Amino acid sequence: MDIFRIEGPVRLAGKVAVSGSKNAALPIMAAAILAPGESIVRGVPQLADIAVLTQLLGALGAKVQRGEGSELRIDASVIDNPIGPYDIVRKMRASICILGPLLARCGSAKVSMPGGCAIGDRPVDIHLRGLRALGAEIHLENGYIIAETPHGLKGKDIFLGGPFGSTVLGTANILMAATLAKGTTTIESAACEPEITDLAYCLNKMGAKIRGIGSPRLVIDGVDRLKPADHTIIGDRVEAGTFMVAAAITAGRVELKNCRLGDMMAVVDKLAGIGVCIEPTADGCIVSRDGPLTPADITTQPYPGFPTDLQAQFMALLALADGNSVITEKIFPDRFMHVAELNRMAARLRKEGPSVIIAGVKKLIAAPVMASDLRASAALVLAALAARGTTVINRVYHIDRGYEHIEKKLNALGAKITRKSV
Ligand code: EPU
Repeated sequence: MDIFRIEGPVRLAGKVAVSGSKNAALPIMAAAILAPGESIVRGVPQLADIAVLTQLLGALGAKVQRGEGSELRIDASVIDNPIGPYDIVRKMRASICILGPLLARCGSAKVSMPGGCAIGDRPVDIHLRGLRALGAEIHLENGYIIAETPHGLKGKDIFLGGPFGSTVLGTANILMAATLAKGTTTIESAACEPEITDLAYCLNKMGAKIRGIGSPRLVIDGVDRLKPADHTIIGDRVEAGTFMVAAAITAGRVELKNCRLGDMMAVVDKLAGIGVCIEPTADGCIVSRDGPLTPADITTQPYPGFPTDLQAQFMALLALADGNSVITEKIFPDRFMHVAELNRMAARLRKEGPSVIIAGVKKLIAAPVMASDLRASAALVLAALAARGTTVINRVYHIDRGYEHIEKKLNALGAKITRKSV
């Protein structure tokens, strides 16, 4: 198992290129199942989660090869084993995004039911409700979702909202299944996240007929077949946001390339309020901070609201603000595993239900800490960049799930991070 040793404090400066989006790449890789032949997906980051989906697609019968750099070739000519086994699905919940495409392509699917994870229960009831509405017959057996379409998938008007608003991967699943359904499907309360928009554009390149892309109402006219596409994944807005916080927390100056500022309005707005300067450039922005950090109140929401995937990182930043802040989590109310770890680094955070009250401190102090999930680990790395002393982060495999070469990228900006196998 790897650990990070991070020496702080540092001031970051220089340029960094944002990788392709993990959360766009995953459903787009699954979409390749829908079209016999070879799809090319470009800008796919080299991450543990991508490796898990690669393995899963291979188990279904597809042939997946990484070409030069970030290009993935997925040959889905043969999909003859529509089973998502527990041993693979348990490694990554997002594996559930094969369910819709498998049903549409093969007429049946057996996919292990994902379990809970460090950020909450994360049910998939809405995915199943949507697929049932399209005509799938679904039951659970021995921990597996068994789904069949004895009469084929049929278009339907579906309300896909849930107790916490829209669902990102639920929308992806229903959208992908509906592309090959007979007739027209309307998804009301669809997720509007840029990753879903990217998926929808990719599906249209494959021959799907999707309207309303980017809005909460997606209208899909089913087609008989789809063809493989060549698609480039959008830049990762969560990685970009994490680098923005890295520049801010170290009072540095960092230029981000391949960063889609237009997808990050809520984040940019909060950073400006906190005292961080963001200057747009042709393909990204320059992020810098000279003055003190101003406290802020943040509530996570579905897109275009403030993303839950940057909540932990902003908590690390606001831990050093000049006064009290409040962060309220409205997507995953239990996503606070980082609170106790940040407190070990001398932050003053107090959890109150789905909120955390942050009393700003003058400095953070290095400590041994434990990574608990992907974004919580990122928050610990950020805190360590600003903290005095050497922070040791255990279980960094969490961060390898979603940040490509993070220590190399940060070290090129002036961080002092070493990875060790223990
Ligand atoms: N929900 C239900 N029932 C469902 C589905 C979702 O109640 O059937 C609830 C969830 O429990 C949650 C809310 O709806 O309270 C939203 O969850 P959503 O389904 O949108 O999450 P997801 O699709 O499983 C994706 C990202 C997450 C990101 C969330 C929210 C991928 C692979 N994962 O998950 O990313 O936090 O959307 O934006 O796209 C990460 O990258 O670190 C990560 C966790």
